[in-house]
Amino acid sequence: MNKNSMDAAQPREIPAFTTRLAEPGDLDICVAFDCTDPTDSRRDQEKVDLIRARIDSQEIFLAVTPEGSPIGYVAIDRLWPMMLPLLSWVYVAPAWRTYGVAAALVDFCFHNLKSRQYKRVLLSTQTDRPQMIETMRAMGLKEIGTLKANPDENVGEVFFIREL
Ligand SMILES: CC(C)(COP(=O)(O)OP(=O)(O)OC[C@H]1O[C@@H](n2cnc3c(N)ncnc32)[C@H](O)[C@@H]1OP(=O)(O)O)[C@@H](O)C(=O)NCCC(=O)NCCS
Repeated sequence: MNKNSMDAAQPREIPAFTTRLAEPGDLDICVAFDCTDPTDSRRDQEKVDLIRARIDSQEIFLAVTPEGSPIGYVAIDRLWPMMLPLLSWVYVAPAWRTYGVAAALVDFCFHNLKSRQYKRVLLSTQTDRPQMIETMRAMGLKEIGTLKANPDENVGEVFFIREL
């Protein structure tokens, strides 16, 4: 056995990608990414119109390969439109997960919002996703409460705030 094969695991090579705002030509892929949200998978004209308006309002952020293929998606909604953005859905194509794509996209989104004078951003996840709740706590986010939009369901949405 040579020495190299006994060494600790080599650092993983991270494939190249970049982040950018979504543009009007990205409409179809943005609709497809948005419909991966199991709580909001409706795909109809209203959804398409909503996504188009979000692209125009700089509310959608994409990660793309060097060849330009979109591989990750972040969308924001607004609670009190001029004041409080809410990161509503983060999605990374399965083959690209664990490479830091979501972290890079979220970071790009936060920097973009800050450059547009937003002071803070909300993030949320469902109460039945303990791992995601832990991730948000590990990111140093401040937990600010749980909303149960449907009182007949057990699952609620836990909200966190991040100062920009
Ligand atoms: C969850 C998911 C987006 C993670 O993508 P990924 O590119 O593999 O994630 P990364 O390699 O960047 O590693 C996770 C990091 O992303 C960030 N991140 C992931 N999801 C996030 C979210 N919803 N909000 C904010 N940040 C998030 C965190 O900074 C986390 O940091 P850590 O590594 O220090 O824990 C991906 O697995 C996915 O698309 N899952 C299906 C959709 C989904 O569950 N979305 C989240 C809904 S709450």
